[in-house]
Amino acid sequence: MKILYTASEVLPFSSSGGLADVMGSLPQALKRLYPDCDVRVVSPLYSSVKSGYREQMKKECEFKIRLSWREQYCGIYSLVSNGVTYYFIDNEYYFKRGSLYGNYDDGERFAYFCMAVMHLMSELDYYPDILHANDWQTALTVIYLKTKYSMYEKYRDIKAVFSIHNILFQGQFDFAILGDVFDIAPGIAPVVDYNGCINLMKGATVCADSIVTVSERYAEEIKTSEYGHGLEGMMRLYSCKLYGILNGIDYDYYNPLTDKAIVKNYSYRSTARKKINKTALQKEYGLPVNADIPMISVISRLTDQKGLDLIAEKADELLSDNVQLVVLGCGDVYYESFFKQLEERHRDKMRALITYDKDLSKKIYASSDIFLMPSKTEPCGLSQMIASRYGAVPVVRETGGLYDSIKPYRYVDGKHMGNGFTFASYNAHDMLYVLREALATYQTKQEYAELTARVMKCDFSWNTSAQKYADLYNSLTPERRITK
Ligand code: GLC
Repeated sequence: MKILYTASEVLPFSSSGGLADVMGSLPQALKRLYPDCDVRVVSPLYSSVKSGYREQMKKECEFKIRLSWREQYCGIYSLVSNGVTYYFIDNEYYFKRGSLYGNYDDGERFAYFCMAVMHLMSELDYYPDILHANDWQTALTVIYLKTKYSMYEKYRDIKAVFSIHNILFQGQFDFAILGDVFDIAPGIAPVVDYNGCINLMKGATVCADSIVTVSERYAEEIKTSEYGHGLEGMMRLYSCKLYGILNGIDYDYYNPLTDKAIVKNYSYRSTARKKINKTALQKEYGLPVNADIPMISVISRLTDQKGLDLIAEKADELLSDNVQLVVLGCGDVYYESFFKQLEERHRDKMRALITYDKDLSKKIYASSDIFLMPSKTEPCGLSQMIASRYGAVPVVRETGGLYDSIKPYRYVDGKHMGNGFTFASYNAHDMLYVLREALATYQTKQEYAELTARVMKCDFSWNTSAQKYADLYNSLTPERRITK
């Protein structure tokens, strides 16, 4: 079986969030489970891809692409890692930019990318059995496949899977650019038309053979008006081909026992060593050095979706307790300055580190006792899994993947159960209440050490979920099955 993933970001080459983690780890996990499977991933060759990787790349070919009236250069580079082939689409005009997204011509950039992927297949004479696209940026690969290319014999049997990592970002554009930018003929317009504008996520939802979202709970939530962001009707209409599969994380990259980014390595057998990481972090950032003060961390994109208004509402009250709070992330200017000001008010208890830094995030996971993630919506969420792996007990709101992965701490039939603290309604009082429950449990040292070890032992690796993807791919192509 041949599987081609298309994505706008893939670790370790490019990254702005969870999508990159998933694209960096799911293909690898699938290949590890099924070595006979042909797994490839294609993403843009951004100028931010490090030269060390560029040096390992091989140039496959170059050609010209037509996208409406434009003719553009396209170079294809490749690199093989652990048996997975990574392709990179090279075009400096589109991908030599200061950031991955947020440019005025993002629609054109990713239309170009998706058209390049369709050409890659014919140029390399490589036609996958499964084309697995991710989020709106690569939705057009599914749309082009089903509306333009499936009339050609070699593309006809390709099955398309479309993953929704976040329904908030749908790829919406003015209809005026349908032909000019997206090269979509007027007859195909109904496929992408949603409430009078182009909606690429809707188009891929219509065209895909299967739609996947990144947790079972989110697959249900997006059928409701509270979470569907206008696409709930579509999700209900296509529910027969909509599945929820929980993400995993890369257990080699995130491994406190071997991680070189943290000060002291440890496992669930030696959780006391977390204190060495904590005091090192306190020292590095000028917080009072005291291993006994519970450290709470927030590592997140600083956007509304992440429930930061709940934290903002209760932050001063929380910081009146004997705690330390470390916030890492960047995003909305409002939250960046809110947390900076909070730090000014509580210099002895709080640090706001306004940046996106993977190594620093690992140091913070390793140092903290409690990880706070009160998301308003959370398709899957990886941070609660990474936090668990590093023994920072998650405190989360029960939504999407947070609901599926974190079960509340409780005492039943003489036994402690659960792997975190949870609250249901989107409410700052409830958040503070469970946070204080976690802090009270922290004071019962032995109980908390047991909880920490249990949290670290939870299995958030890809093993189960990669298997579920294999089952899904198998169901789409019964004549070519993935087997061990
Ligand atoms: C998006 C979602 C997040 C998910 C990630 C990977 O970033 O917001 O919940 O974990 O994609 O699927």
